[in-house]
Amino acid sequence: MRVQTEFVDLPRTGGVMRVMLARPADDLPRPALVFYSDIFQLTESTQRMILRFAGYGFVVAAPEIYWRYEAPGTAYVFDDAGRDRGQACAKRMSVRDFDDDIAALLAFVAARTGVIAEQIGAVGFCLGGHVGFRAALSPLVKATALFYPTGLHDGDLAGDGDAGSLARAGEIGGPLLTIFGRIDPHTDATGRETVQRGLDAAGIRHRISLYDAEHAFMRDVGARYDPSATDAAFAESIAWFREAGLTRVFLCAVDTLTEGEPKRIAVSGYEPLTVVGIAGRYFALSDECSHGMASLSDGWVEDGNLICSLHSGGFSLETGEATVPPCTDAIRRYDVVRDGDALFLAS
Ligand code: FES
Repeated sequence: MRVQTEFVDLPRTGGVMRVMLARPADDLPRPALVFYSDIFQLTESTQRMILRFAGYGFVVAAPEIYWRYEAPGTAYVFDDAGRDRGQACAKRMSVRDFDDDIAALLAFVAARTGVIAEQIGAVGFCLGGHVGFRAALSPLVKATALFYPTGLHDGDLAGDGDAGSLARAGEIGGPLLTIFGRIDPHTDATGRETVQRGLDAAGIRHRISLYDAEHAFMRDVGARYDPSATDAAFAESIAWFREAGLTRVFLCAVDTLTEGEPKRIAVSGYEPLTVVGIAGRYFALSDECSHGMASLSDGWVEDGNLICSLHSGGFSLETGEATVPPCTDAIRRYDVVRDGDALFLAS
C-alpha cells in the first residue's frame, strides 16, 4: 500500500509540537496509531518504521517528544552525544509533561478527518515504549504494541521521580503487547519479570514476547539491528492490532441481511453504504445514486446490478460501474470480508 506523509505543527503552550503524519495514499477513513519514538526523535530510521506501519492501513501520528527544548525537525545522531542529549531532555521533562503531550496528540488524532476515532492504537520504542504505555491508559486507545520499553519496571521516565506507570496498568482498556530483546540490558530478565507480574496483577489482556535480540533491535542502523527479528516483531504487532479489530471496519452481522435485498448501513467515518448479500457473496457500495438524490438501498438487485428505485438506472455490484441508463457515472465500491458471522470492510 502506497503512503503519503506530511508534517503538522501542533500549537502548544510555549511552542509547537511537530508531528509526522503518514497514511495510506487514499481518502478512506483509517484506524490510527500514535507513535512514540526513542530518545533520538524522528530519525530517518524511525521515519522508515512510521512509513511501514502506515503501509499496513494506519494513519500514523508521530510527535517530536522534545519539542520544548529543540527546534522543529531536530533529530539526534546515533552516537554518544545524541544519546546523552536525548537522555538529558527526558530528565528535563516531568511525567505531567509527557501526559499532557499524549492527551494533546490523541485529541488531535481523534478529531482528524480520515481517522476512525474509535480505532486508535499506540506504539512506542525504547523510552517511547514507556510513553506509549502511558498513552494506553487513555480510553481513546484501543490496542497497544510496545517495543523494548524502558523504565516500566523501575518507573524511570522523566526527571521528577518514579513515573509509577506499571502500578496503573489496570487502567489500560485495550490489549497490550510488549516485545523485548532477550539480551536487553535496560530491562533485563529481572525487570521483565517485574513487568510481567505487574501486568498479570492488573488483570488486563496482555502478552510479553521475547526475541533473541538486543535492545533497539528494530533500529536499522548500527550493530544491534536484527532484520529477521524486526520482521517477526513487526508482523506480531500487526497481527495484534488486527485481532483487536483496528485494521478492519465492522459492517454488520451476516444474519441482519436478507438474501438479495440491499440494506443501508451507516459506518462511522464513511459515507452511507448499501450492502447486499447474494449466494454467500457480499457487496458494499455507496448508497447514493450518482444520477440523483436517491438511496440505492431503496432499490433492488437484478442480473448482478443494483437498481435505483427512482429512475431504474443501475450499477454493477462487482465494480460499481454504471451499467443501466440513465446512470452514467460509477459509484464507489468497497471490498468486503466475512469473518465468522460478521462482515467487515477490508482495509
Ligand atoms: S436517481 Fe438513481 S437512476 Fe435517477
